[in-house]
Amino acid sequence: MKRMAVVLAAGQGKRMKSKLYKVLHPVCGKPMVGHVVDTVKATGCQRTVVVVGHGAEKVKAYIGQDAEYVLQETQLGTGHAVKQAKDLLGGEQGTTIVICGDTPLVTTETLEGIMALHEEKSAAATILTAVMEQPAGYGRIIRGEDGSVLKIVEQKDCTTEEAAVNEINTGTYCFDNAKLFAALEKVTNTNNQQEYYLTDVIGILRAQGDIVLGYQAHDAAESIGVNDRLALSEAEQLMRQRINRNHMLNGVTFIDPASTYIGADVIIGADTVLYPGVTLKGKTVIGEDCAIGPASEIEDCVIMDGASVKHSVLCQAEVGARTSVGPFAYLRPGASLGEDVKVGDFVEIKNATIGNGSKVSHLSYIGDAEVGTNVNIGCGAITANYDGYNKAKTTIEDDAFIGSNVNLIAPVTVGKGAFVVAGSTITRSVPENDLAVARVRQENKTGYAEKVRARAKAKKEQSGQS
Ligand code: UD1
Ligand code: CA
Repeated sequence: MKRMAVVLAAGQGKRMKSKLYKVLHPVCGKPMVGHVVDTVKATGCQRTVVVVGHGAEKVKAYIGQDAEYVLQETQLGTGHAVKQAKDLLGGEQGTTIVICGDTPLVTTETLEGIMALHEEKSAAATILTAVMEQPAGYGRIIRGEDGSVLKIVEQKDCTTEEAAVNEINTGTYCFDNAKLFAALEKVTNTNNQQEYYLTDVIGILRAQGDIVLGYQAHDAAESIGVNDRLALSEAEQLMRQRINRNHMLNGVTFIDPASTYIGADVIIGADTVLYPGVTLKGKTVIGEDCAIGPASEIEDCVIMDGASVKHSVLCQAEVGARTSVGPFAYLRPGASLGEDVKVGDFVEIKNATIGNGSKVSHLSYIGDAEVGTNVNIGCGAITANYDGYNKAKTTIEDDAFIGSNVNLIAPVTVGKGAFVVAGSTITRSVPENDLAVARVRQENKTGYAEKVRARAKAKKEQSGQS
């Protein structure tokens, strides 16, 4: 059976009170509609149509090639929204999932479950339902005396009796594709919101004698529809627990799951330990046996096996195997550390490669540089890479030694095995194995400290200050 999906994502989401279109609000770092499209794809849908409207260009730009799009110019309701897909899907035969872009927690397992039931029973429609303690805001599932689904009634159109029903419509359904588009033609907008409700299709199919089923979600929490920031924070919490749980089951140790924030697309190897206060974002990949945290933020980085990161901020950086970073280091885009490297406290690295076994232990800025293997960069040494207009490159070859408080004024090269004396300001390249000194030679003036003190004392007495 051919499987297709329609994702509803055209609403503005007024109740979010936001400049950002609702379905682009992130849950664990990933826009809600991204979660939904990925879930639908994972269930083997051959075609996924996203209905866009508010923020159409932004939604399309985010999802990209993963879907086909139809535009719903005015938001006349969920039924009207699905109807927009008729040109693309109207001629197909098979099962169509309809799912809202604001239900990010629905899982692949649940979609597989509902599709299996739907196809096995040759139903016209199967609704994913959930029993909720607080059904307010959701459409209610109205069943007949024999327990079969008769219709869905929106909260705003409910009688008191209907409002008391706590089985709700999650907004996810499977339809027989041909029957769905035929029934949509019969939907009207005679209701309290004057919208074309997709939910009315259920009553229409049922009235014409088609099979309509309800499939109850195992976990009602999956069905949260995010309409406001309260629900957004609930969804975030639940998604975070789900993500953390999966990593733990895959062999990652969390010292404090409640204070550990992992993005939906982050990958972490077994036997890695995450200490409290860690945030891992974007496409970050962490290897095995790493120690991450406490208190570190890592975005779009690749961290290899056995590395450690403490109290540090890393963005678009690479950290080699067994390398240690921090405490209090800042790795900016393009920082690439080799294996067994040490980057210590108050070190900032940007657009620079640091070769295997090299050390930048304290208080350094290394920008636009290529540092070889087994290089030692002393405390407070920096690259001066910017003249206010241009960036220039510093090259430090293998086995070089850069003393403390050295300024390397780029462009400049320190040759293999060269030695730069502490306190030097280097403006010319240093040849291999040379020693560079670029500082004023020290002079000691015998007993002069006494004279300076006496002079200062006399000045103070003369001015009468106490
Ligand atoms: C909808 C259901 C309700 C269900 C709930 C589950 C209808 C009429 N009601 O209500 O039974 O309990 O979801 O969360 O379907 N959208 C469009 N175009 C439109 C209107 C909406 O694309 O013209 C999109 C929205 O962007 C959103 C989704 O459809 O992603 C659902 O719309 P929303 O207004 O949130 O519906 P609910 O009131 O939550
Ligand atoms: Ca909703």
